[in-house]
Amino acid sequence: MDNLLNIDRLNKTQVEELMYLASSLKREFPNTNLDNSLKEKNVIFLFLEPSTRTKTSFNFACSILGANIIDISPMSSSITKGETFENTIKTISSYPADALVLRSNENHHIDIAENILDFPVINAGSGTKSHPTQALTDLMTLKEQGLSIEKLKISIVGDIEHSRVARSLIEGFNLFGSKINICAPEYFKPADLSNISYFEDLSEAIKDVDVLMALRIQKERIKESEINFNEYSDRYMITEKIMKEFNINYLMHPGPVNEGIEIAKGLQDSGKSLILEQVKNGTWIRCAVLLKILLDGKS
Ligand code: CP
Repeated sequence: MDNLLNIDRLNKTQVEELMYLASSLKREFPNTNLDNSLKEKNVIFLFLEPSTRTKTSFNFACSILGANIIDISPMSSSITKGETFENTIKTISSYPADALVLRSNENHHIDIAENILDFPVINAGSGTKSHPTQALTDLMTLKEQGLSIEKLKISIVGDIEHSRVARSLIEGFNLFGSKINICAPEYFKPADLSNISYFEDLSEAIKDVDVLMALRIQKERIKESEINFNEYSDRYMITEKIMKEFNINYLMHPGPVNEGIEIAKGLQDSGKSLILEQVKNGTWIRCAVLLKILLDGKS
C-alpha cells in the first residue's frame, strides 16, 4: 500500500490483511515493542473539519508506534489569511514528512494532495465521498463479533446523501458480497448510488437484517430549515422497541450521534450497541494503515 485514498483502491485481500493486522495489534497491546516501529517517521495532520474519533485515534496510533506528529491547526495556519488549499499542500510538500493525514470538507482535496505530494496521503474523511479508515474500522468491528462479512445482511439508515462513511462502507461490503439495504427519506436518498436496495420505509428496510447502522444527520451540509427533525425521528429514529421487534442483534453508528434524532436516548449504551467498539477499533485500524503504508510501502 503506498497511500490510502479510498476503499475502491483496495482489494479484498488488502482489506482482510489490514483487519487481521489491526486485530493482532489490539490483542497483543501493550505486550509489544511497537513504540519503535515508526521511530523518526514524521506524520503531518491537516484536519480542515472537526474530528474527535478519527483525529484522536490517529494521534494514539502515532503515539503507540513512535511516530512524530506535526499537527497543522487550520485556525492558526495561513489558511485563515486566505492561502488556498493547493498552495497549503505545496507548502507542506517542502517539509521532510513521511505522510499526510488529511480531513477535508471538499471531495476533490484528497486527489489534489495526492497529485502534489511525493509522500503518502491518508484519507481521514473526504467531503461526502469517502472515509476509508472508518469503513475499515466498522468491518473489523463486525468481524470481531464472529460475523461472516460475506453472509452479512445490514441496513444503513439515515442521511445517506451526505455520508462519506456509507459510501466507503458500501464499497467495503461490495468486496465481500454482503447484502446491503439503505434506508432514507427521499431528501436523503443518494443520487450516485445505484445497484443497491433502497427503501424509504424503515420497517421494510430492517426486515431480516443482522445489523443496523444509523447515520448522523450532517447538519453542517444541509439547510436545517429544510428538514423537520421531529418528523424524521418519528419515521427513522432507532429505538429499543424496534431492535427487539425486528430481532436485530447489533446497532452501529460511526458517530458523533445526534441522540433523540437518529437513535433513542440511551440506546447507544445498550448491550446491542457496538458504537464504543467502533471507536476502540479505530485506533488499531489506523495503526495498521500507518504500518502498512510507512513500513511496507509499495509491497
Ligand atoms: N466517525 C468520525 O469520523 O468521527 P469524527 O468526526 O469524530 O472523527
